[in-house]
Amino acid sequence: MVPNSPEQTEAGDLAAFWMPFSANRYFKQEPRLIAEAAGMYYTTSGGDSLLDGTAGLWCVNAGHGRREISTAVGDQLARLDYAPTFQLGHPLAFKFADRLAGHLPAGIDHVFFTNSGSEAAETALKIARAYQKRRGAGERWRLIGREKAYHGTNFGGVSVGGIVNNRRAFGPLVPGTDHIRNTFDLERNAFTRGLPEYGDEHADDIEQLVQLHGAETIAAVIVEPIAGSGGVFMPSRGYLRRVREICDRHDILLIFDEVITGFGRLGEAFASQRFDVTPDLICMAKGLTNGVIPMGAVGVTGTIYEAFMDTGAPRGHAIELFHGYTYSGNPAACAAGMAALDIYEREGLFTRVRELAPYWEDALHSLADAPNVIDVRNFGLIGAVHLASKPDAVGERGFAAFRHCFDHGALIRVTADIIALSPPLIIERAEIDRLIETLHDGLKAVAQAH
Ligand SMILES: Cc1ncc(COP(=O)(O)O)c(C=O)c1O
Repeated sequence: MVPNSPEQTEAGDLAAFWMPFSANRYFKQEPRLIAEAAGMYYTTSGGDSLLDGTAGLWCVNAGHGRREISTAVGDQLARLDYAPTFQLGHPLAFKFADRLAGHLPAGIDHVFFTNSGSEAAETALKIARAYQKRRGAGERWRLIGREKAYHGTNFGGVSVGGIVNNRRAFGPLVPGTDHIRNTFDLERNAFTRGLPEYGDEHADDIEQLVQLHGAETIAAVIVEPIAGSGGVFMPSRGYLRRVREICDRHDILLIFDEVITGFGRLGEAFASQRFDVTPDLICMAKGLTNGVIPMGAVGVTGTIYEAFMDTGAPRGHAIELFHGYTYSGNPAACAAGMAALDIYEREGLFTRVRELAPYWEDALHSLADAPNVIDVRNFGLIGAVHLASKPDAVGERGFAAFRHCFDHGALIRVTADIIALSPPLIIERAEIDRLIETLHDGLKAVAQAH
């Protein structure tokens, strides 16, 4: 496939758009532009078809171009384009929150709407601190995240996040944040199928921070049940339960950032259900609207919600939480979310992954003998192929694999030399075969060239 030149595209001059998380200069010399999408496929502006191995950015769980969603959004916009949700409301926001609560783990029964995963993380961290104050534990303000974690790009999320490139340019970050190790253990767990055996003790790092700071200073621990953007790291089998137990022991809130694990990616609506560990707050976004309209949300327990509602004095007009966004519960986003839930429910997409997972696992692990592969990881419909980095050029092999696959009709995603796969949940077995074959050929080609 010949890369699109600006002349070939309808994009015109590419200079003005400062692209996020991108090599702008390289891209603008050799643009890769997407023009259309349907089902499992993108079409480039050059007319080539691209099998979507990443569900966009882990968000298009029901596949592309779902008419039901665009129709629902169009109808909603014609009926009510915008209404504030500050001291006002519109029915769909309440309906959507109620329906969403039905899919969240038992006990998480209130929903705060945001516009993105970053804002969901930010909102969860703020609610955690405010809740501690509300219940008279105002000295609990420390927030604990993990190394290599990704919780979006706002200051709170970056501060508890653990990806060095996302942090180093932006300091000083939010004070009172600290980190535990992540769960990656190549030596003991390489090529494990499903959740690895070793590493539960990584959760005990929280105990060390309790020793260091005192439990009475810690508001919350935030983790991705499976870390995605940092490089796809699985928790060991008992890890999340142990994290929950330690948080309970010290009366610390637990936040699951389920922005990528939510909406069926692991074979249940949420990872919390799949792993049978319930946090106090859940961040979500992406699959919430099938990626169609920007939206995020935070689910919280009744205990947290009620702590804010119980103001003591009967001050009916008092605002309980000074936080929110102009577009919290935006009508078009709620309509997209309702229609996405219709599809997920009707097509059984939350549980379809369980049927597909063994096939996915076998296909992925067939890459174990490809050149430079030092680990293959999988769970649900997530996969990672970890390449040995070139000592003098970290990320070169990963990017070359991405380019090869793009040029041969498949979209994969890379974090340095870790290839992440997370296709729409509608993928068929033959498409899994194609994706893996293209990647296999790519890894061979990359090994020859790099
Ligand atoms: C776990 C997690 N949290 C937060 C975010 C940020 O979401 P957004 O890009 O919608 O702000 C992401 C995005 O990849 C994510 O994976």
